[in-house]
Amino acid sequence: MATNRTFTMIKPIAVSNGFSGAILKMFHEAGFRLISMKYLQMTPGQAGAFYEVHKDKPFYASLVEFMSSGPIIAAILEKENAVEEFRKLIGATDPSMAAPGTIRNLYGKNLTENAVHGSDSDENAELESSFFFSGIEQYPVDHSG
Ligand code: CDP
Ligand code: MG
Repeated sequence: MATNRTFTMIKPIAVSNGFSGAILKMFHEAGFRLISMKYLQMTPGQAGAFYEVHKDKPFYASLVEFMSSGPIIAAILEKENAVEEFRKLIGATDPSMAAPGTIRNLYGKNLTENAVHGSDSDENAELESSFFFSGIEQYPVDHSG
């Protein structure tokens, strides 16, 4: 079933460079609503599990090392057509190829240290969200009443 949610991480390089606030502002200004968010450092085992789909790729070891090298911000975002719209906002995987004004173009350092993650399908958005967030964390109750 198609959803209007995607999953993102602000990667260690962007957090350590102090870009988290600017990047979160770009999420907001592009119309994404924050559903869930946490700040944590993954162990190499956890990063390896998250990126298991890439385990046979030549970049897997360096990706796992990088993603467990410092704290990240993990978040679930909501917007119509979220997965596709968010991939547009972040730009191509390689920051040097990412369109001007995209998050990876502005804040990415290189192909591995490319500032942010964005899910590539509705199915993966759900799997990745559930990797980090329990059910109750993904479906916040409206406390306004
Ligand atoms: O993140 P995205 O979906 O755009 O790319 P991916 O192909 O799913 O790769 C996952 C992550 O692996 C990228 O975001 C990069 O951090 C890293 N990567 C890399 O280090 N070297 C590559 N040749 C390709 C990806
Ligand atoms: Mg991907």
